[in-house]
Amino acid sequence: MCLTMAGFTPTVVGKFRQRFLLHPNRATSTLFSNFLLLPVELTRLIKTQSRENLTATVQARHRQCGEAQQCRSIDIPMGRTSDKVALSPQAFFELGYKPGDPVQFHYDGGQLDITPLETRLPDRTDDCEIDAAGVKIPPAWLIQAFTGAPDTIDHIESGKRSADYYVDLYNRLCGNYDNVERVLDFGCGCGRVLSRMPSSGGARYFGIDLHETALEWLRKTMPEGTFSAGSAMPPVDIEAQEFDLIYSVSVLTHLNREQEGAWLDEWHRLLKVGGFVIATFRAEDWVDRFTLERQKMAIRKSWSEGDGFCYQKHRYWEGIFPEFYAGTYQTIDYVRSNWGKRFEILAIVPPADSPNEQNTVVMRKRS
Ligand SMILES: C[S@@+](CC[C@H](N)C(=O)[O-])C[C@H]1O[C@@H](n2cnc3c(N)ncnc32)[C@H](O)[C@@H]1O
Repeated sequence: MCLTMAGFTPTVVGKFRQRFLLHPNRATSTLFSNFLLLPVELTRLIKTQSRENLTATVQARHRQCGEAQQCRSIDIPMGRTSDKVALSPQAFFELGYKPGDPVQFHYDGGQLDITPLETRLPDRTDDCEIDAAGVKIPPAWLIQAFTGAPDTIDHIESGKRSADYYVDLYNRLCGNYDNVERVLDFGCGCGRVLSRMPSSGGARYFGIDLHETALEWLRKTMPEGTFSAGSAMPPVDIEAQEFDLIYSVSVLTHLNREQEGAWLDEWHRLLKVGGFVIATFRAEDWVDRFTLERQKMAIRKSWSEGDGFCYQKHRYWEGIFPEFYAGTYQTIDYVRSNWGKRFEILAIVPPADSPNEQNTVVMRKRS
């Protein structure tokens, strides 16, 4: 069985390979969005490689795929007028995959093959890809676990933009970042932001996350940092008043009300008196900008019927994160009254001004 993709000529694979984590029970539209990334990434690859190289790589990979006999092709209903394709969950189950199984989609001559992906991290850190700034780059399948897209270039560029932005916010609102000693990235993922934070000052970096493979990656590639496994609820095994700054990007966008409150309390415990939090969340302006009409109405209804906190369960991240990891949206008023009980709120930045396109709050632990 094979898939014919309309709209572009598929040619694959180069330095940064396209890899997709397979989610059989994701909504069709989500799978669409994965596929939609493909032409963009392919364009980048094609620009950076000669056609002869690409052809040779594709042929070699095609042979490999055939020889390994692991490769399974799939018949997928195809959009008639565009290059979008929809994969039915059933089709994946029939091929024997379960949610979160990493696979590689391989396009060649209009056919889509699916191969289970080897997800071991490189044994030696000098085998890792390194970018122009000398930072080691995680494999694309690991990047995708945190952003939904295996986009290495975005990982590099957005990580740098975010780190610069948070340091700049700190310098503008909190003090001189050069004087910061201990910084915690709560929910550090595979280090998209943390790996770009300045190493020139005196700051020591700590990261906490739930994803064991990401922690393994960070321990290997950033031995100067300290990385610990998180849990659904606090406490963490760290002394009180350890940190000058806790930042957390795109984490309180996934937790339920009880978890959010408990982690805000835990951050309060972990911060030095006068220490700062920089954290992102999703409020009215984010919802207006980034959600579809039907979802927007559902969130706004939930806000108006409750107190401005909306937690939507879904199975989008099944197989990658625990069952509680879902979608959280909260109004600015909710943040002001609930987060503001614990911290002094210094600023709330709208998504349009932030590199992560989420709302960002800057807060201080009161003396
Ligand atoms: C959308 S990802 C963002 C990762 C990273 N901050 C970034 O911006 O690239 C959310 C992260 O929050 C982490 N997370 C969620 N709940 C957590 C908890 N209770 N303790 C530690 N990490 C948590 C997840 O494991 C995941 O890596």
